Amino acid sequence: MVYAAILGYGTVGSGVAQVLEENKKVIAKKAGGEISVKYILDLRDFPGDPNQDKVVHDFQIILEDPEISVICETMGGREPAYSFSKSALLAGKSVCTSNKELVAAHGPELLRLARENNCNYLFEASVGGGIPIIRPMNYSLTAEEIDGITGILNGTTNYILTKMKREGADFETVLKEAQEKGYAEKNPEADVEGHDACRKIAILSSLMLGKTVHYEDIYTEGITGITREDFLYARELERTIKLLAVSKLNEDGCSAMVAPFMLSNTNPLHGIHDVYNAVFVHSNMLGDSMYYGRGAGKLPTASAVVSDVVDCARHQGKTVMCIWDEEETSLVDYRTTVRRFFVRVKGSVLEEAKAQELFGDISVIRLKERPEEYGFVTPPVREQDFEEKISRAEGVLGRIRLED
Ligand code: HSE
Repeated sequence: MVYAAILGYGTVGSGVAQVLEENKKVIAKKAGGEISVKYILDLRDFPGDPNQDKVVHDFQIILEDPEISVICETMGGREPAYSFSKSALLAGKSVCTSNKELVAAHGPELLRLARENNCNYLFEASVGGGIPIIRPMNYSLTAEEIDGITGILNGTTNYILTKMKREGADFETVLKEAQEKGYAEKNPEADVEGHDACRKIAILSSLMLGKTVHYEDIYTEGITGITREDFLYARELERTIKLLAVSKLNEDGCSAMVAPFMLSNTNPLHGIHDVYNAVFVHSNMLGDSMYYGRGAGKLPTASAVVSDVVDCARHQGKTVMCIWDEEETSLVDYRTTVRRFFVRVKGSVLEEAKAQELFGDISVIRLKERPEEYGFVTPPVREQDFEEKISRAEGVLGRIRLED
C-alpha cells in the first residue's frame, strides 16, 4: 500500500482524489499495489464531502507521518507550495505537481533535492494538462536530439481565438463569454497575456536542452491585440491565428518565444480548436511527432498527477531520471530571428508604394468589407529590422508573425 497526501483540495486536488477512487482497481494493478489518500491539506473544511475525515490544516501532520511516501501538490502558486515541496523532498517523500509556476521557477532545485533524497519530483500535469508530454520527453524520446518544440499550450486563449474565428466576434466579447462559462479566470491576465504559456515552454525548453531556461528570458506577447479584422485577413491568406509557444534550437543556440502567429492551413497545429492543447516536437531521428489532448480541466489534469503517483509507486526509493540541470542557458536574442510578418494598415495613410519601399517585395491583401485599409505580408526579415522599419511607417493598425 502506498499512502498519499493531497495539498490543496480545489479543482485539480479533488480531481486527484476522484481519479484515485474511481480507477482504484486499475491503478492498483498498474502501480503494483493499492494507492490510498490518507490526508488532504486545505485551509477549508469540506462537510459532506466523502473525504471530509481526511482533511487536515497543518502540513506538519503530513510531513511527520512516516507512512506518507507521496505528496500531490495541487495548490498552485509559489508559496507555500515551494516550502512544502522542499520539506517533503528533504524528508524523502516524492512530490507530484500540477504547479507550472513553481516548476518553471524552481524545477531544477527541486529535482536535485529529489535525487539527493532518493525520491521523485514529477510534473507531468504542469504542461498540457492531461496530455502526456513530460514523460515522452523524459522516456520515449531519449534516442532523439530534439531541436524544435511548438505548442498550443494554453486552453483559455485557444478557446478565445477559436470563437473569434468561428463567430467573427471581437476579443472583449469572447473573453466575457469565456469568463461566464468558466473557461477564463476573472483575472485573465496570466492566460491572455501569454504568461502561462511562457512558463510551460520554459519547462519544455529546459527538458529539450537539459539545462535551465528562465521563463523571464522568453519574449512573450499575448492575444489582447488580436482583432476580428485580423481573422478576415487570415482567412484570405488561408491561415488562422494561434497563440504559439515556440522553442527552436539551431547552430546559434536556442530561441524561444510566445506570441500570436498566423499559421498556414497545412500546419498540424492549425486544426487544434477550443480548449485543446497540442505540442509539436521535431527531433532528428523520429522527425515530427505531436501530442494532443485536453490541456486543462479537473479530471484530465488530475489524471496526469495520478500517473506520476503511479510512477512513484513503481520506483520507491529510486529517482526516475530527468535531465534538467541547474546550469543556466541563455537564449538567442529573438530580434535576430528571420521571419515574415503580416501587417495591417490604414490605406489612406501608408500608401502601397511606401510600404513597398520600406519592406521590399510585399504581397498585398485587400478585403471588400474594409476598403479604408489593407494588409500585406512582408518578405523574410529580421525581427529587429522589421521593428525599425515599422517604426518609420504611419497608419499601422497591427502586425502578426507568420508561421508555415
Ligand atoms: N489556464 C490554463 C489554460 C490552465 O488555460 O491552459 C492549464 O494550465
